[in-house]
Amino acid sequence: NKKAFIFDLDGVIVDTAKYHFLAWQKIAKALNINFTHENNELLKGVSRVRSLDIILELGNVQASQEDKDKWLIQKNEDYLSYLVDMDESEILPGVFKTLQLLKEKNQGIALGSASKNARPILEKTGIISYFDVIVDGNDVTNAKPDPEVFLKAAQLLNIDPKDAIVFEDSVAGIQAANIGGMVSVGIGEETILHEAQYIFKDFTVIDESFIDNLIH
Ligand code: G6P
Ligand code: MG
Repeated sequence: NKKAFIFDLDGVIVDTAKYHFLAWQKIAKALNINFTHENNELLKGVSRVRSLDIILELGNVQASQEDKDKWLIQKNEDYLSYLVDMDESEILPGVFKTLQLLKEKNQGIALGSASKNARPILEKTGIISYFDVIVDGNDVTNAKPDPEVFLKAAQLLNIDPKDAIVFEDSVAGIQAANIGGMVSVGIGEETILHEAQYIFKDFTVIDESFIDNLIH
């Protein structure tokens, strides 16, 4: 059976979650807002605009639209500066192997990311050709946990949501997959991603029999 395998980008395919964190932390510091790793979990999978609002809420800071726009630009410039020398070494362990396996099994492969930087990242890391479909932050209006990004990806692959499998490292993304009626696979820590149907620490521990069970 042909299924849709939908991958989140940041923290699932590439190790960029740490760069998003560093760039947001810089903004938070400048605003005197205490922003921890734990707070950062709230930002994973969430759009850039919404992320800034969450940080401002944490610090109880009110800001003008003008200031917000300035900080959003600053955050992205800072984030992009970490990606200048990015290459395939940033691809997380086991990802290439899993994509290869899915290709061999003629499965649909999609990207479902909130990031507006998704395409250049996939290009720089040499992984873009594995994806039949790319849906990113430029293509959606509703942020995860709204399932729009994943529903769009499944639709473009011509596959029913119930036949879609989503790999996610964020709570919002797991919720989006669940709301969309898809199979949710958490990549990361069980304590954080407990709403997922399956949880793995990374792709190195996802074996062929797990994939085969999802397909059949
Ligand atoms: C992903 C990341 C978030 C990020 C969002 C927007 O969902 O997990 O941390 O804020 O994409 O990314 P962008 O690259 O457009 O700022
Ligand atoms: Mg992510």
